[in-house]
Amino acid sequence: MPQTPAFVATQWPAVQTTDALWVRQLVLHHLRCFAEARLDLAPGINVITGPNGAGKTSLLEAVYLLSHGHSFRAGGPQALLRRGAEALDVFAELLRAGSSHRLGLGRRSGHWEARLDGRDVALAELLGQCAVVCFEPGSHALISGPPEERRRFMDWGVFHVEPSFLGHWRRYRRALEQRNALLRHGVIADGEYRPWEESMGETAALLDQARVRYLEALQKPLTRLLDRLIPELGCVELRYRRGWPADSELAAYLAASRLTDQQRGHTSAGSHRAVWSIHFAAAPQREHLSRGQEKLVALACLLAQAAVHAEHAGFWPIIAFDDLASELDRDHQRMVVDQLLACGAQVLVTGTEIPDALSTRTTRRFHVEQGGRVQLIQ
Ligand SMILES: Nc1ncnc2c1ncn2[C@@H]1O[C@H](COP(=O)(O)OP(=O)(O)O)[C@@H](O)[C@H]1O
Ligand SMILES: [Mg+2]
Repeated sequence: MPQTPAFVATQWPAVQTTDALWVRQLVLHHLRCFAEARLDLAPGINVITGPNGAGKTSLLEAVYLLSHGHSFRAGGPQALLRRGAEALDVFAELLRAGSSHRLGLGRRSGHWEARLDGRDVALAELLGQCAVVCFEPGSHALISGPPEERRRFMDWGVFHVEPSFLGHWRRYRRALEQRNALLRHGVIADGEYRPWEESMGETAALLDQARVRYLEALQKPLTRLLDRLIPELGCVELRYRRGWPADSELAAYLAASRLTDQQRGHTSAGSHRAVWSIHFAAAPQREHLSRGQEKLVALACLLAQAAVHAEHAGFWPIIAFDDLASELDRDHQRMVVDQLLACGAQVLVTGTEIPDALSTRTTRRFHVEQGGRVQLIQ
């Protein structure tokens, strides 16, 4: 069996900061199997153990919700609501560099309600306060899934390091929706389309530049992580396509595509069609990767995303691993744990048992019983 290369913790991709965001307290009401749960988490490594179906993943989902506004599991927001309940709530006290914020996210009557330090705020303002990256059994979809998965990953990363991205994205979406409505209604007048196409053109250029900057920032930590986690794949290359042809301006391209777009019933080019993908010298096609390799590549992407966040936002996001021991072999677990200890991030790990790599390095440990009772073990 090939030996895993020796790991040097100080090689974490050239990020200077050890400042980290952390959840001190997490409280949930009526999320999945929980009527109520309350956890006082620690900075550093927190492990949550418990039998299958006890609610471990749901606890990570709660933290992830505060940073993404949706779960990493399929099923939509309604599936998060405890059976029979009319509303759910997640509260967290978040700390960083001496400051603390109280976040509240509720779902009632089919809508999200966000609160920050006691004020009602827009969902995006709440999500902007909390950064969580999560490696979980479905993470391989980042590599093997549809382009939307990768676009969402990229845009979440950009949103957290370039706050102006959201405003550009909203302007773009609004113009896109207006243009789609004109297409659907069979409008042909140039003057109706022009303002929306110009708005799309302007905002698409800004979105494109921000995405390019992000992927460039991702490249370096990603290369180093892949080198360590999965060296057999050889050189890595990120390829990005912005969503419309390289030699044209979007507004002019859209004006020339109205007829074909009308036949399709939607706008077929623009920032909403941007894609990126990852390619390896030793596995030119995605189909050449095994499921295990896809997982390691997805893990490297997520850890690189955390490193870019630390570099550009100045602090580490919270890093969560659902079912660490069943997703990674022991050598890879150990490599990842060493990296995480070196960077100082708060880490939330779940498993049916405490993973070997963590047996002596856990700061705090919880046990979840069937029926959703959470106990502090140490
Ligand atoms: N909307 C819901 N209402 C009530 N129970 C749910 C809901 N969704 C999932 N569950 C239950 O919650 C439990 C916890 O699930 P999960 O967090 O995936 O557990 P674990 O990760 O510990 O295996 C499961 O028993 C599941 O059947
Ligand atoms: Mg689980």
